[in-house]
Amino acid sequence: MKYSLKTGQADKQKCACIIVGVDANKTLSPSAENLDKAGSGCISKLIKQGDITGKSGQCVMLYKQPGIAAERILVVGYGEAKIFNRKQFKNIQLQAIKAVMASGATDFISTLHELEVNELDESDKLVETIKTFEQAGYRFDQFKTKAEKQTPPLKQIHFLIETGQKAKLQKALDTGKAIAKGISKAKDLGNLPGNVCTPTYLATEAQAMAKHYASLSCRIVSEKQLEKMGAGAFVSVSKGSDQPGALIVMEYKGSKADTKPHVLVGKGITFDTGGISLKPGAAMDEMKYDMCGAASVFGTLTAIAEMKLPLHVVAIIAAAENMPSGGASKPGDIVTTLSGQTVEILNTDAEGRLVLCDALSYAERFKPASVVDIATLTGACVIALGHHASAVYSNEPGLTDKLIAAGEQSDDRAWPMPLWDEYQEQIDSPFADMANIGGRSAGSITAACFLSRFTKKYHWAHLDIAGSAWFSGGKNKGSTGRPVSLLSQYLINCSKKEPKARPQQRLKPKKLN
Ligand code: BES
Ligand code: MN
Ligand code: ZN
Repeated sequence: MKYSLKTGQADKQKCACIIVGVDANKTLSPSAENLDKAGSGCISKLIKQGDITGKSGQCVMLYKQPGIAAERILVVGYGEAKIFNRKQFKNIQLQAIKAVMASGATDFISTLHELEVNELDESDKLVETIKTFEQAGYRFDQFKTKAEKQTPPLKQIHFLIETGQKAKLQKALDTGKAIAKGISKAKDLGNLPGNVCTPTYLATEAQAMAKHYASLSCRIVSEKQLEKMGAGAFVSVSKGSDQPGALIVMEYKGSKADTKPHVLVGKGITFDTGGISLKPGAAMDEMKYDMCGAASVFGTLTAIAEMKLPLHVVAIIAAAENMPSGGASKPGDIVTTLSGQTVEILNTDAEGRLVLCDALSYAERFKPASVVDIATLTGACVIALGHHASAVYSNEPGLTDKLIAAGEQSDDRAWPMPLWDEYQEQIDSPFADMANIGGRSAGSITAACFLSRFTKKYHWAHLDIAGSAWFSGGKNKGSTGRPVSLLSQYLINCSKKEPKARPQQRLKPKKLN
């Protein structure tokens, strides 16, 4: 989809469709007002007749009206709210683009950003709109031999703005496009089946990206090299598969300054059978999504390379397949990690932490400003937070705050979880320095505790995205592209000297009744 900004009067805009709004009090948006006047009351007439109610999300299409240059007018209901919130705003945008997609229009001009939305400035509104439009248009049909016929696809979207805002909003438009591109990238990789998206596929993808962006370089550390290096935990997982694993290291240099990098580490288990501790069959296909942490790192790198953020970022993807074979690890096996610490593998299905711990030790060599790992790490995280939030763990409260704030800002929410010492005992082992599982209780926390033992030398945070990375079952099944929005916003904020003031909701003491 192409996006651009337009200025001028609504009634003079030549296009296939122009979108305007009416609220539940029958108040016309400024552009609706303009069209109504130029079009001899074409909108107010329909309001009087009762066809246009202004109910939130209602879409009424008017065809060619005398006095108005556009072929169609889509009147969208804003609803009753006095002050709109982001959710209402996004829903209005979503209903509008669905209505346009169902029509014959291949381009349109939107004026819906005229709506005032709580906590969103003009730029934020544009970014959110582009994310919403791209989400509505997203398809993953590359494996369908007969692509479902859509009505003519949308090619061009314009936003009608005031002349004075052009420079500022062009920047917002570019940001929105970049982040939306990153989200789509993460979705595409996540949705790929496990027989296509192997560790080698991810490595090839990284090399292709490094070729495409001059600011990006890539190095592949092979499974053999990892074995030599002493990354025994990583290899204990990967050796159960015929597909060779790899550590994929990408470096983004968006400025000449030699600053300490922000490191992103992604869990890239391209399929998780559980290994010898085999998973039950139900919904096992969804374990192709066990590389969504890696996918979000690819997506975020895409977004920041597109935005040309003045930052230094290193990405490390721990790519492997977790399979049961004669070469696979067995429960009770003890391995030595890259850090030198030993691990008793009590359950081969707790493989994410095994590949990540070595990737996290590897990250030390970059002397990072911060390290954030992103992983579909535990089913227990889904039990704790459901599908609405990613879990945040960190050894640095300031970093937790930054990630929560970025999630809030970008509508890709995360929530803090504890890493108290008391939980650490659960992963004690009688035979090795630690076990790789900590029992049934607090499963997401004990997994984070495991990782915390490998991240003592830098500021670190862990995002458990098991609940947020994809939608299960049904028609909506598919990768969500989360948390690309959160991570992109986090890095945007890192690239600014004075990060934007953030809502500190969770720190506000609640009044008890
Ligand atoms: N990839 C899974 C976590 C997962 C499972 C995410 C289901 C989303 C949905 C991870 O490798 C895993 O299998 N974790 C185990 C850990 C357990 C053996 C301690 C789990 O959560 O059951
Ligand atoms: Mn597993
Ligand atoms: Zn897994």
